[in-house]
Amino acid sequence: YPIYAQQGYTNPRAANGRIACANCHLAEKPVQIESPKAVLPNKVFEAAVKIPYSKDAKQILGNGQLSGLNVGAVVILPEGFKLAPNNLISKEIKEKSKGVFISPYSATQENILVVGPIAGDTHQEIIFPVLSPDPATNKKINFLKYPIYVGANRGRGQIYPTGEKSNNNIVTSSFEGQVIDIQTLAKGETEVTMVNSKGNETKQNIPKGLSVVVSKKDNIKLDQPLTKDPNVGGFGQTDVEIVLQDPSRVVGFIIFAFSVLFTQIFFVIKKKQFEKVQAAELKF
Ligand code: HEM
Repeated sequence: YPIYAQQGYTNPRAANGRIACANCHLAEKPVQIESPKAVLPNKVFEAAVKIPYSKDAKQILGNGQLSGLNVGAVVILPEGFKLAPNNLISKEIKEKSKGVFISPYSATQENILVVGPIAGDTHQEIIFPVLSPDPATNKKINFLKYPIYVGANRGRGQIYPTGEKSNNNIVTSSFEGQVIDIQTLAKGETEVTMVNSKGNETKQNIPKGLSVVVSKKDNIKLDQPLTKDPNVGGFGQTDVEIVLQDPSRVVGFIIFAFSVLFTQIFFVIKKKQFEKVQAAELKF
């Protein structure tokens, strides 16, 4: 959950660019972010994060039952950018984002936004309304090109903050030997009994809900998978660039572009005039 990252990491993006969620959500899955190429200061814009997965996908819950997936995301905006205040968000976006609660990563990091867990089937696209900063009022901000980093996840993680593994993991054999018995226990767990070459018996329990892929008489090596990988989710990260654009630069460029256009037109007119003079001179 994003809260695990908030509690465990002051900066969700490590120096090597890895986003904290990846430490516990081990599978890699795609994510996308769409945002404008450039924004003017003090304007609200939307960054849309897409977390695609098959809606048929079912994952194993903590209690071994199957259910749909939830999604969550973290968006690391440039310094000074922050979540747009409610009164500046358009009705349309509010309507689209019903039930989506976006919050700052921490009290001091308003430029990092987190969301989730929320129902994945209805939120494969999450819209972040963002307010751009104004260099006129905030001297630390400059008109520059900045990166936006995003990490987004669907499905349960593999490791708890305590370091314990979740049941959303493949179970591998902790012993070597031959399977002599596979029993389903009262609580739905599966107990695999193995005997090694010295005749020692060992038992290994497999949590409820995982599908066992070994059968009686199989010879098992150490660390060989005993179950299918139950994890249907995964985490992904990507980035985009955004230009904080100075409005006077835009005006300046328009004036420049028109000045080039008019100069070209005047050249053509001058040439036509010169040709007329040449033609007139020829007649004498
Ligand atoms: C569950 C997102 C960081 C461990 C989830 C879920 C989401 C999510 C959406 C619910 C999945 C579902 O129910 O289908 C994120 C995001 C993170 C992040 C966006 C980063 C900002 C972490 C970290 C850890 C972690 C750092 C480990 C320390 C887990 C575990 C679960 C989980 C173990 C399953 C909990 C359970 O159902 O018992 N996460 N997570 N997550 N996350 Fe994360």
